[in-house]
Amino acid sequence: MSFPPGLKAPVIWQMLSWIVQPFTLMERCAQRYGDCFSLALSTKFPPMVLVSAPEALQHLLSSDNGKDFDVPGELNEIFEPLLGSQSVLGLGGEPHRRMRQLMMPPFHGERMRSYSQLMGEITQTVIGTWSVGQNIDVHAAMQSISMRVILSAVFGVEVGSRYQRLEQLLAKMLNDMGSSLGASMLYFRSLRQDWGSWSPWGNFLRTREQIDQIIYAEIADRRAHPNPERQDILTLLMSAQDETGAGLTDEELRDELMTLLVAGHETTATALTWAMYWLHKLPDVRTHLRSELQNLEDLEDVNALLRLPYLNAVCSETLRIHPVGILTFPRVVRTPVAIAGHTLDPGTIILGCIYLAHRCESVYPQPEQFRPERFLERQFSPYEYLPFGGGARRCIGMAFAQFEMKVVLAHILSEVELSLANSKPARPIRRGLTAGASPVHLRVEGFIPVIPRPRTVTSARLHSP
Ligand code: HEM
Repeated sequence: MSFPPGLKAPVIWQMLSWIVQPFTLMERCAQRYGDCFSLALSTKFPPMVLVSAPEALQHLLSSDNGKDFDVPGELNEIFEPLLGSQSVLGLGGEPHRRMRQLMMPPFHGERMRSYSQLMGEITQTVIGTWSVGQNIDVHAAMQSISMRVILSAVFGVEVGSRYQRLEQLLAKMLNDMGSSLGASMLYFRSLRQDWGSWSPWGNFLRTREQIDQIIYAEIADRRAHPNPERQDILTLLMSAQDETGAGLTDEELRDELMTLLVAGHETTATALTWAMYWLHKLPDVRTHLRSELQNLEDLEDVNALLRLPYLNAVCSETLRIHPVGILTFPRVVRTPVAIAGHTLDPGTIILGCIYLAHRCESVYPQPEQFRPERFLERQFSPYEYLPFGGGARRCIGMAFAQFEMKVVLAHILSEVELSLANSKPARPIRRGLTAGASPVHLRVEGFIPVIPRPRTVTSARLHSP
């Protein structure tokens, strides 16, 4: 029994490999050391343990409520420049539990249904900007949909100039931080140098300041003119109270809004990009899904849409083969614990490796193959399949993201005929602090005449190729 083995290379080399080629690094370590190894991912903290076997993940994620493991917030300090010090991600212990309780209600299953019409309309608006023969940058299109969806869900549907400006600023900030340089600035403090607006960090700080001004102005307006009729997430958060009757301060509201906007935008856009890639790479999968959608009487019938087995399987397989969050957030060993054949001392940092768990050959034969059928053939446990993590930090937006993926894909497949613009295989790349896809372009072949269905908003402009 010992500390799990790991690379002997210098910390800086391991960190740079993690930033530039996280997938290759994880695969090499798994080949060399198996399903439990250590990696140096920080200059501040000692090497961290990564586990990917279902039994180890079960132990980790079912006793991270202070039993064997804690979920301290300070280990997520890498997110602080983006999200602030009060973000739920940066909190641990009781403050973390309290904040999750305040944030969960807008994300309960029933609420999701009220967002579905919005998601469908936004998708149709974006499709409405496409024309036959045009090459679509899929990630940009999906970003545009997911950004508008999360902004509208968070702030309400009114499309004022304040939101348009916020949309532009957020997109700019996230794109800047999505590069390797952007990610490096989060990993290495020494790169955070404000040498004016032309320097990368200075530019980031100025953009963030403008975003903050907009968010604080919105909060002040809402406090001055409360409207309890509104159903958006900000309204719900502003009326939320903990057991002592205390609500969220302006700073807490700002940080949680940023958390939802950042966590809810890029992740879903990337997942949708991958789904669109595979659906157009594999015609059989597309045909199968389309015929399932065609049998649906009404695309707006959310309950029926959510129950479609093949649509569900396509979304699940997308997040299996390309989990956008490749690791869970870190947990810390509380009492000496035996896990994955090792005994870990208190204080050891340990993470679930979602990427490797989803490539486990014994659970997913031929794991590199995109095969939605696997989700029809058997059920996977929450420790074999965990794109949204689990335990005390399980993704707050899980239902929202799954819902959005289904609504957006159903609309696009039902309304547009697309084909891959080139035969170059897409590959996973790092995007900021999450996994992304290399560029995917689809060509618009034509629009599918919509069979009479209620609310065919776009039917006037739909035409055959
Ligand atoms: C496909 C889309 C998404 C994926 C793959 C994803 C994945 C994840 C993962 C892996 C975690 C860490 C869980 C853990 O450590 O156990 C997480 C946490 C989180 N996610 Fe998501 N997420 C997605 C979409 C969203 C959306 C739409 C929102 C909100 C609108 C959101 C908000 C959050 C928050 C706030 C946390 C932190 C929870 C905490 O610290 O307690 N995510 N997500």
